[in-house]
This record gives sequence, C-alpha cells and structure tokens, in this order.
Amino acid sequence: MKQLVIASNNPGKIREIRAMIDTIALLSLKDIGFTQEIEEPFQTFEENALAKASAIYSFCKKNVFADDSGICVNALNGDPGVISAHYSGERDDERNLQKLLGELEPFEDISAYYKAVICLIWNDATYFFEGICEGKIARTPQGTKGFGYDPIFIPDGYEQTFGELPEDIKNSISHRGKAVRKMITFLKENSNE
Ligand code: IMP
Repeated sequence: MKQLVIASNNPGKIREIRAMIDTIALLSLKDIGFTQEIEEPFQTFEENALAKASAIYSFCKKNVFADDSGICVNALNGDPGVISAHYSGERDDERNLQKLLGELEPFEDISAYYKAVICLIWNDATYFFEGICEGKIARTPQGTKGFGYDPIFIPDGYEQTFGELPEDIKNSISHRGKAVRKMITFLKENSNE
C-alpha cells in the first residue's frame, strides 16, 4: 500500500480525512517522529498549505499533504480566514467561535463559507486541491460534533449546524471533503500500484 503523511496536528481534521481515505496508508506526524509546531505565517491558504507540506517533506522526504483551511465571513470581509485557528489570540475553539459571534452581532448578513486548500507533494512534484462549502452562521452554537466553528456553521441546503449533522454528511458536502476527493481522484490516476 502507498504511504502518505498528513502534515497536521489537528485531531478533528485528521479524523475526517482518515474517514475518507482507505486505499492509502496515512502516516501521522507522530508516526514519522515530527514533534515540532509547524509554522503557517502567510496570508493565503495556498502559501500556508505549501509551507506545512514543504516543512514535513524536508524532514522525512516522504509523500505528504497539508490542509490549510478556515471560515470566511462575508460581513467581516472574509475574516477570520487564514487566522481561524487562533482568531481570539489563542488556539481555543470555544473562544474563537465566541469572538466571531461577537464581531458579527452588529451585522445582518450572516453568510459565510469554509475553504480548504490541500497541498500535496507527490513524487517530488507539488499539487493543490481546493474545496469551498457555502453556508451561514448560527447566532447561537448548536451541537457538539465536528470541531472548530462547526457548532455555528449551517451549510446551504440544511437547517442544522455541522455540530449537529452526522460526520458522513459533513464529509459529503464540506470544503475538506471536496478537496480530499479531488486529491483521491488525482492519486488514483497517478499511482501505478
Ligand atoms: P489551520 O488550517 O491549521 O490553519 O486551521 C484551520 C482552522 O480553521 C481550524 O482550527 C478551525 O478553527 C477552522 N476550520 C477549518 N476547517 C474547519 C471545519 O471543518 N470545521 C470547523 N472549523 C474549521
């Protein structure tokens, strides 16, 4: 079986991605002995995904992919975007979500979208796969499933938040699900084993 490293320490992301990929052996950062924080200092998802995948590729020289993702709220000009993971100043999902609700309070427009960009380094070449999931923000958190902003994100076509919807439904419509499926299609077409 082909091996692929997931360049992430986020347990929520890793759980979702593992549920979608079963034909490739996924290695965690722990499996490859990488224990540092991975820097993501840039202003775009693409640059941060590339920085994370490149850092791990330099470390282990194995095929690797990184997901950089976030929630973009239209009334807030796309914020928190690339700083979603530490919007409140801390890497704390509850504080981040409460900060977003506070910032959005004066606005009527509650439309938002999640975006994920995957950077894959495969046989020494670099590829990008993107997914977007449109929706809106719930004024009060609902549900405990998922992670991050899921209790306040209602995807288009549904009445419930990602905090309430089952994970298989989330994966079938989410930003990450779309990006991961594009990567899987690429890997099927480009793996000769
Ligand atoms: P990063 O890609 O490591 O910069 O972190 C992405 C951050 O965006 C997460 O820590 C969450 O705050 C948010 N995020 C990205 N995708 C999701 C999702 O599917 N559900 C909830 N929050 C998400």
